[in-house]
Amino acid sequence: MRSLIDIADLTVEEIDGLIATAEDIIKDPDKYAEKCRRKKLATLFYEPSTRTRLSFESAMIELGGSVIGFSEAQSSSASKGESVADTARVISCFADIIAMRHPMEGAPRVAAMNASIPVINAGDGGHNHPTQTLTDLLTIKREKGRLSHMTVGCCGDLKFGRTVHSLLEAMSRYEGVDFVLISPEELKVPEHVRTDILNAGRVKYRETESLQEAMPELDILYMTRVQRERFISEADYVRLKDTYILTPDKLETAKKDLSILHPLPRVNEISVAIDKDPRACYFRQVMNGKFIRMALIMKLLEVE
Ligand code: NCD
Repeated sequence: MRSLIDIADLTVEEIDGLIATAEDIIKDPDKYAEKCRRKKLATLFYEPSTRTRLSFESAMIELGGSVIGFSEAQSSSASKGESVADTARVISCFADIIAMRHPMEGAPRVAAMNASIPVINAGDGGHNHPTQTLTDLLTIKREKGRLSHMTVGCCGDLKFGRTVHSLLEAMSRYEGVDFVLISPEELKVPEHVRTDILNAGRVKYRETESLQEAMPELDILYMTRVQRERFISEADYVRLKDTYILTPDKLETAKKDLSILHPLPRVNEISVAIDKDPRACYFRQVMNGKFIRMALIMKLLEVE
């Protein structure tokens, strides 16, 4: 039985396989409509979510399965003091697979160690978000036709932004991917990302505070929200939140075939004036999230 806690749990071949399945689902969704008949997904969300939870739920429904779960810790027995380990054991009696989001880093791993069904990490604190990364990879593949030989700029909150941590891990395993990490000094990538991924000798990267300086060389621009909920000081958040606001004039030096991604929700970091630019991929990215989660659920449930 397999879980997905960290994107590194999947080999590059497996990721490519999931992307191929997702592309086939997009072509012929009817073929998959009964694949998970009588199977249940439990969504255990201890932190707010719109896209991730609802895309997991629609993924399971479109596979013919059903969904149970909760969308806030307050409505679960966590509010009575139940441990994640116990909740995981209990849910294993009801469902076939779990998608869990939790503010505590490592909570989904604890769940996986105690559940007798597969567990998917739907975001743990400021740590990892592997299914967002699968969504991002499918998006890049569909927009660019490849996942190798490109320059990827990650901009914004690289310290607390879990989606960036998982994306760096995944893309560092494809050939010829260079990173430009664009953030204010205080929001640079954390030490564990630096040691495990950036300095492990697998990738070329550079860091800058200037989005304008980086823009001309980028093939992908991955914008992120400053993660207010992870700040200790509200004053720091207020000072840093609008460091980068992507407006049409800033795209003047960008490549014609740049792809702009954002895991969403956006706050101020991308002006709505960008939305109609064909290079804006973030709403197509949302749609891809459902298809790749369908592929992942089938893989972990070992459905043919
Ligand atoms: C992201 C997350 O939860 O980490 N959202 C998402 O799942 N699409 C990004 C964010 O909240 O900023």
